[in-house]
Amino acid sequence: MAEKTQKRKADHIRIAATYNVQAKRNTTGFEDVHFVHKALPEIDKDKIDLSTVVFDHKFSAPIMVSAITGGTSEARKINAAIAMVVEEFGLGMGVGSQRAALEDKRLEKTFAVARKKAPTAFLVANIGGVQLVRGYGIKEVRKAIEMIDADAIAIHLNPLQEAVQPEGETSFHGVLSRIGEIAKELDKPVIVKETGAGIAAEEARKLEAAGVKGIDVSGAGGTSFAAVEFFRAKGKRNFHRRRLGEVFWDWGIPTAISLVEVVQTVNIPVIASGGIRNGIEAAKAIALGASLASLAQPVLQATIEGGIKKIRKTLSLLIEELRNAMFLTGAENPKHLQKVPVVITGKTAEWLKLRGFDVESYARRSAVSQ
Ligand SMILES: Cc1cc2nc3c(=O)[nH]c(=O)nc-3n(C[C@H](O)[C@H](O)[C@H](O)COP(=O)(O)O)c2cc1C
Repeated sequence: MAEKTQKRKADHIRIAATYNVQAKRNTTGFEDVHFVHKALPEIDKDKIDLSTVVFDHKFSAPIMVSAITGGTSEARKINAAIAMVVEEFGLGMGVGSQRAALEDKRLEKTFAVARKKAPTAFLVANIGGVQLVRGYGIKEVRKAIEMIDADAIAIHLNPLQEAVQPEGETSFHGVLSRIGEIAKELDKPVIVKETGAGIAAEEARKLEAAGVKGIDVSGAGGTSFAAVEFFRAKGKRNFHRRRLGEVFWDWGIPTAISLVEVVQTVNIPVIASGGIRNGIEAAKAIALGASLASLAQPVLQATIEGGIKKIRKTLSLLIEELRNAMFLTGAENPKHLQKVPVVITGKTAEWLKLRGFDVESYARRSAVSQ
């Protein structure tokens, strides 16, 4: 069992770093979100303070690296490299699903290395929601947290991936109430995250009521797990699964849309992820109401291509771009950025209006007061 999980994880890394597994026809919706340029920013770019406090933790910038991996020796190196840079930059990081290490103790170090290399950074443990109806409970959750001395745990929802992969676990009945049980018993925050297909307002409302302390929308427009499974099926010459991966490649709620649906529905911190590829998109996410912006695939790619140096470069560019976008909108800190006017157009505005969400107040809100 643990070996199978390891092989699958190694496949995911190889495929996500080698092939184009990004959404093709679906986009994040951030292209429909526009800042109103401020010709008189009246602030000093060098004095912009990117720091923010979320989940009672101080981040030097509102940026995280999303859950990617663990469970293999290569994954150990990837986690170590990412953790080192995350610590250096004062950001946050999620490890990949810890199931492999819960099944085989020898694999714990492939996750624990993250805390070793990032003694003070915000670290998020990770388990699958569907595992909670397949025997996992508070004991396994506590073990996953202890393994990396985590600040929070992410319970991931991946029905799309489970539906298109051969070893898919598709009985999701009861996942919500199990999440509620965990959230009530645990003293650390439970964050529920998707894995690239987004979260709608209806689910966000139920998750908040269940006691969840944060939601990571992980919407569509970036890495597609259907695409990852397409390439796995192709390698195995499984035409049926390959077709499923292809047809569902672009399934999901675009990230910007999911983000607005969730922030207008709940009162807990929301993390934006899924296809965030530069600092302007991170800035748009914060302006729409996200507390943090997070990304996975570009950091994985950087790690494989150039290790620590390339991760540093990727994240420092992202932060510099974010700072620039803040300067050009006159936002001195992330709280101010959440108040600058943004205009939502196109499919994103249309969807949100049809679903009864408010897009106009974003455009009409007054810029940061000077
Ligand atoms: C190779 C790979 C492995 C992943 N494994 C996990 C995982 O174990 N647990 C999880 O919650 N998300 C996992 N994800 C999903 C990411 O955390 C993220 O939600 C998704 O990739 C969308 O972000 P992106 O478009 O920036 O890549 C994985 C992503 C990639 C690329």
